[in-house]
Amino acid sequence: MKKLLSGMRPTGPMHLGHLLGALTNWSKLQEKYECFYMVADWHALMSEYGDPSSIRKYYIEMVADWIACGVDEKKSVIFVQSEVKEHLELFAILSDMVPLPWLERCPTYKGQLREVRSRDLTTYGFLGYPVLQAADILIYKASVVPIGVDQMPHLELTREIARRFNSMYKDVFPEPEALLTEVPKLLGIDNRKMSKSYNNFIALGDSEDIIRKRIASMITDPERIKLTDKGHPDICNVFSYYKIFKPDMQKDVEDWCRNAKLGCTDCKKRFAEVLIEYLKPYTKKRNSLLKDKGYIEKILKEGAKKASSVTSETIAEVYKAMKMR
Ligand code: TRP
Repeated sequence: MKKLLSGMRPTGPMHLGHLLGALTNWSKLQEKYECFYMVADWHALMSEYGDPSSIRKYYIEMVADWIACGVDEKKSVIFVQSEVKEHLELFAILSDMVPLPWLERCPTYKGQLREVRSRDLTTYGFLGYPVLQAADILIYKASVVPIGVDQMPHLELTREIARRFNSMYKDVFPEPEALLTEVPKLLGIDNRKMSKSYNNFIALGDSEDIIRKRIASMITDPERIKLTDKGHPDICNVFSYYKIFKPDMQKDVEDWCRNAKLGCTDCKKRFAEVLIEYLKPYTKKRNSLLKDKGYIEKILKEGAKKASSVTSETIAEVYKAMKMR
């Protein structure tokens, strides 16, 4: 089987966006590839260096969420980046041969510097973010990398770095391909992109009460003010949630709205119950996993061991290719 690697930064709780955008896909991919799923804690540190203690809390919960959503620790290697030191070793080696302008002109780098106000990202480490990501991928000689479109520039850089290494020394690294899958578009409860930084998400670990409150605060059709006003489901985010999480109710919801049979408040109340029901199996599994954090730690220890058996081979090959050994 071909190797696949992906990772997430433990900088906040897992939410519906992760469930639909990545995790459902990750669990399917286990059937076709040898999968490595990584907690990117060094990458998290590049922005969270002011308060690194939160990283650990998030990653234990994150791994519980991954498993609850179908990532199977028996099929895939689940591990924490900082427990596999060769990532950093390859990062250091690659850093020496990556031209500075490749990093300075990276659109994600320029974008983050412009947009992120709460942290100082004008650091040496943050500039090297994509080089570490390239090391993550290349150290496993992964052929496929499932990512969101926002990560495409990093994958392009990884391919360029692989080509540069191969042509300078020896053909060691395959050029990895991105795996961009079609995912249903899910906006946050304020109609912007669902994101931790906007605080507009519904987390997989949210209690039923919080889910009810969050759904109640969703924006519906702004032109529907009174109950008797006819609504426009096509511009209503609650309707798009119904379509994703309970498609068999779509016709009814359209009828309630277009024909002014049910008010938005009640429509949202009903949706909250739909979502709570939908999430129940995940919530149950996640909470039971979190009762035994030792088990999660054990999975991660074993994962790091399996990962290391691959990375130690690659790094030996790298030194040899460079004639340093
Ligand atoms: N940069 C990725 C993100 O923020 C996380 C990540 C780190 C990653 N290393 C990776 C993703 C390697 C894919 C492959 O989403």
